[in-house]
Amino acid sequence: MTTHTHTLAEPRLRSALTRMFEAATRDDEAAARVRSLRPHDRGALTAQELADANREIYMPISADGGKLLYNLVRATRPANVVEFGTSYGISTLHLAAAVRDNGSGHVITTEMNTAKAAAARDTFTATGLDDVITLLRETPCRRSPHHAGPSTSCSWTGGRTSACPSYDSWSLT
Ligand SMILES: C[S@@+](CC[C@H](N)C(=O)[O-])C[C@H]1O[C@@H](n2cnc3c(N)ncnc32)[C@H](O)[C@@H]1O
Repeated sequence: MTTHTHTLAEPRLRSALTRMFEAATRDDEAAARVRSLRPHDRGALTAQELADANREIYMPISADGGKLLYNLVRATRPANVVEFGTSYGISTLHLAAAVRDNGSGHVITTEMNTAKAAAARDTFTATGLDDVITLLRETPCRRSPHHAGPSTSCSWTGGRTSACPSYDSWSLT
C-alpha cells in the first residue's frame, strides 16, 4: 500500500481541486446571472435565500490560502477543525488533507445550500477523505462549536454571521 505523507499531492485530490478551481473561474458569470435575476431585492434576502441564490458560485479560498489552511492544521494538530461555509468543499479538502497527514483529527463543516452540500459530499467520497469529514447541512448556530470538544480549530471561510450572531465570538485558534 502506498503511503502519502502529503495528501495534497494525491492524484484524486489534485484532480478534484483542479476541477473545482477551474469551475470557480466562472464565478463572475454566475454572479452576473444571479444579479440579473434578483436585481432589486438582494438586500432583503435571508441568509438561506442568499445561499440558495448563490448556489452556482464557488467563492473559494485561493490556492495559496488553501495551502495556508493545510499548514496551519499541520502545525497545530487540532483534534477537531470546525469550518463555517463549505461551498463545494475546496477549503474543506485542504483541512481534511492536513488532518489525514496528521494521522488524527476530524473536520466538521457546514453548508446551508442543499445542492452545494450534496456536491461537496460526493467530492469528499471521490477523494477518499470522507472518513475525516462530517458535513452538516444546517446553519451551524443550532450547534455550539463547543460540541466539537477541546482542541478545536475554527476556520472562518465565508459563512454569513448574520444567520448566527452567537458565532461572532469565534476566533481562529
Ligand atoms: C465564501 S463561500 C465558502 C467557500 C469555501 N470555504 C471554499 O473555500 O471553497 C461561503 C459559503 O457559506 C455558506 N453559508 C453562508 N452562511 C452560512 C451559514 N450560516 N451556515 C452554513 N453555511 C453558510 C454559503 O452558502 C456559501 O456556500
